[in-house]
Amino acid sequence: MKNNRVLLSGIQPTNAITLGNYLGALKNWTQLQDSYRCYFAVVDLHSLVTYQHQADSSIADNTWYALATYLATGIDPERACLFAQSQVAQHSQLAWILNCFSYMGELTRMTQFKDKSKDKTNIPAGLFNYPTLMAADILLYQAELVPVGEDQRQHLELTRNLAQRVNKALGSQLFTVPEPYIAKLGARVMDLRNPLIKMSKTTENPQGTIFLNDSNEQIAKKIARAITDSGKEIVFDQQTKPGISNLLVIQAVIEGQSIDTVVNRYQHSNYGKLKSDTAEIVIAELQPVRDKIKQLLAERQYLQQVLTAGGQQARQTAQMTLAHVHQVLGIVTNQGGLRD
Ligand code: AQP
Repeated sequence: MKNNRVLLSGIQPTNAITLGNYLGALKNWTQLQDSYRCYFAVVDLHSLVTYQHQADSSIADNTWYALATYLATGIDPERACLFAQSQVAQHSQLAWILNCFSYMGELTRMTQFKDKSKDKTNIPAGLFNYPTLMAADILLYQAELVPVGEDQRQHLELTRNLAQRVNKALGSQLFTVPEPYIAKLGARVMDLRNPLIKMSKTTENPQGTIFLNDSNEQIAKKIARAITDSGKEIVFDQQTKPGISNLLVIQAVIEGQSIDTVVNRYQHSNYGKLKSDTAEIVIAELQPVRDKIKQLLAERQYLQQVLTAGGQQARQTAQMTLAHVHQVLGIVTNQGGLRD
């Protein structure tokens, strides 16, 4: 039964969506949409952080693709609000305010910032401030639950700290303090070519990532060439057998089975059988999604309607929170509620 509790999540349109995004985020969204008032954003402003102009992929293309993916995986626009972050200027407005309440020390400690800035000579300031924009995304809607993959846990913790800090500083219950929703399995799908790093949309080696627009042949080939571990036994051990464990997790999440059930299936099998079964299961799961995405991408007018309606709804909710924040801060303009 749906309650009045709010759920918010999003994906950056940095590239085609991956099996990691699908298993770690999207699959949970569809399961939770019946129980919460949901906001699902395509967080396009976030994708500017690592913006690289690529002839074969643009933010616009990736935004339509992400929206089509949300719909293709079963998000219902009649029940959930689907929008693009840039449609709601309040995200940037609140992010600035939250920046003024954030500390350099805590932002510097963010693992994602450390990882993504590691080899850069010129580190974009946006990369550093990314978590405050993410906090604004969440706090504007008074979200109680934020389903994310494991990599976003630390950003969620920062969001909680910021919400509590601002509430305390301003002596007002301005923000709901959100909880992360991180599934026990599938919250960190690993790269097929390097199972010590997570599968990513922006990757140096696309052979390690399954994209939702990969053909069946590409999926089969990528899984067949997945790095496996020494030995022959199929056991679940993420420390000593990260490659094999990754394939087991992928199967378990798609089939809704426990790891033990999947492992038991392979007591007398070899790595080859595990790989071919995994490919079959992934293809069976993704093929209908891929077909539906393709069909939806051809219906641009419909996609535009979904975004327009979602953006309008999102702006109204966001403005209520921002107006309250402005009022408590003593900013005299823009306190009168809805602007458009
Ligand atoms: N490998 C993963 N396994 C499980 N969940 C994952 N997520 C990302 N990678 C995995 C979850 O997907 C949601 C959307 O991610 P994002 O677009 O906000 O960016 P990200 O977390 O940085 O993911 P990517 O795919 O690695 O994107 P790029 O390459 O652009 O940085 C989040 O809930 C995330 O946790």
